[in-house]
Amino acid sequence: MQFFKLTKFTCSELLQKLILADKETPGESWNEVHFLTDLPGKWDFSVYSLNDQSELVAFLICSLKKRNYLHIHRFVVIQKFRRKGIGSCMLNYIKDVSRKNGVSTIGLKVYKHNQTAITFYIRNGFRMGEVINDNIMMTFNF
Ligand SMILES: CC(C)(COP(=O)(O)OP(=O)(O)OC[C@H]1O[C@@H](n2cnc3c(N)ncnc32)[C@H](O)[C@@H]1OP(=O)(O)O)[C@@H](O)C(=O)NCCC(=O)NCCS
Repeated sequence: MQFFKLTKFTCSELLQKLILADKETPGESWNEVHFLTDLPGKWDFSVYSLNDQSELVAFLICSLKKRNYLHIHRFVVIQKFRRKGIGSCMLNYIKDVSRKNGVSTIGLKVYKHNQTAITFYIRNGFRMGEVINDNIMMTFNF
């Protein structure tokens, strides 16, 4: 599986596909402005993946909240490609890039009823943290 850096240019090119896919995520979803807003490290760490037919398979958008803390904002594997290990593979890739760039913690918030994602993150070494409104904070420490 090959991952490509999500630059602001590719993000704007893929925008409608990203928005559509993001609506599959339980809980809040992002609009065009959210996707295109510049954040520290966003265009360095975020990734996406296409298959051989150039279909969008998955994407992960993140940014640096602190020099050593990477926050995952959006993470979606397109429905028909789920349960094939692609999510874990993309997460491992992000872990690898993070570690090499001095990140010590990866964090995210997940909608409390999104059991699939919670199970997925626990399987991938994340720990559950505090519950804020409808979201559970989860972190992975190197
Ligand atoms: C969460 C998500 C990214 C996982 O991607 P994926 O490619 O399906 O994950 P993997 O195939 O690597 O799954 C790894 C493990 O996660 C768990 N998992 C994944 N989907 C699951 C499901 N539907 N039910 C229960 N466990 C699940 C399993 O433990 C699975 O291992 P297994 O297949 O050996 O049982 C994907 O389900 C998704 O895009 N969901 C919608 C968007 C979303 O909720 N994103 C997270 C927002 S914070």
